[in-house]
Amino acid sequence: DRSIKIAPSILSADFANFGQEIRAIEAEGADWVHVDVMDGHFVPNLTFGPPAVKAFRRHVTTFMDVHLMISPVEPYIGAYADAGADMLTAHIEAGPHIHRTLQAIRGAGMKAGLALNPGTGLDAVAHLLDLTDMVLVMTVNPGFGGQTFIRSQVDKIRRLRQMIGDRPIHIQVDGGVDTTTAPLVAQAGADVLVAGSAVFRGGSVDAAAIYGENIRAI
Ligand code: DX5
Ligand code: ZN
Repeated sequence: DRSIKIAPSILSADFANFGQEIRAIEAEGADWVHVDVMDGHFVPNLTFGPPAVKAFRRHVTTFMDVHLMISPVEPYIGAYADAGADMLTAHIEAGPHIHRTLQAIRGAGMKAGLALNPGTGLDAVAHLLDLTDMVLVMTVNPGFGGQTFIRSQVDKIRRLRQMIGDRPIHIQVDGGVDTTTAPLVAQAGADVLVAGSAVFRGGSVDAAAIYGENIRAI
């Protein structure tokens, strides 16, 4: 189905209260829970690994979407499957063998996501669509929450939706999504919206900032 899904990123949650924060966003109507894994190598920031993701799993009752900003990916696929990830998203820029990586993610029993940095074009995606359940268009350079939305990516989303045609592939958007930018990306063809700093503010959940009929109705 092509209704808009909201996936709050717990990167902006209170790191000392993940269980409570996950329950709060689900109570507010989160469709998915987005988990940002960073390795201090592929991106200049470090977050959490498989044991933490496994601990989050006990609190997530919806769908746990794990965004890997790590390189290499393949040695860790089994660990994230064991941790309970429903979907594992790998960056096309993370190594030379993204085709094999996507096969391995599906082979481990998870949905496979393919992420593109803002500077990466759509050409290579055409050869990967049959292996992909979701394409993640980054609208900031990955590494940190709270950055400014990069407008040039809206046209990329539009062209990607045309490429996908009637295949059952989600388009996720991540970075700078708020009440101003969410309608732009939804109209361009995105159907899964990640939001970190717009949802979590100082440990409390400001769901009204991003949820609402105005977004879901697009
Ligand atoms: C960025 C992460 C995002 C981030 C989004 O590297 O992948 O998921 O948490 O945060 P906001 O919504 O604050 O841009
Ligand atoms: Zn993310």
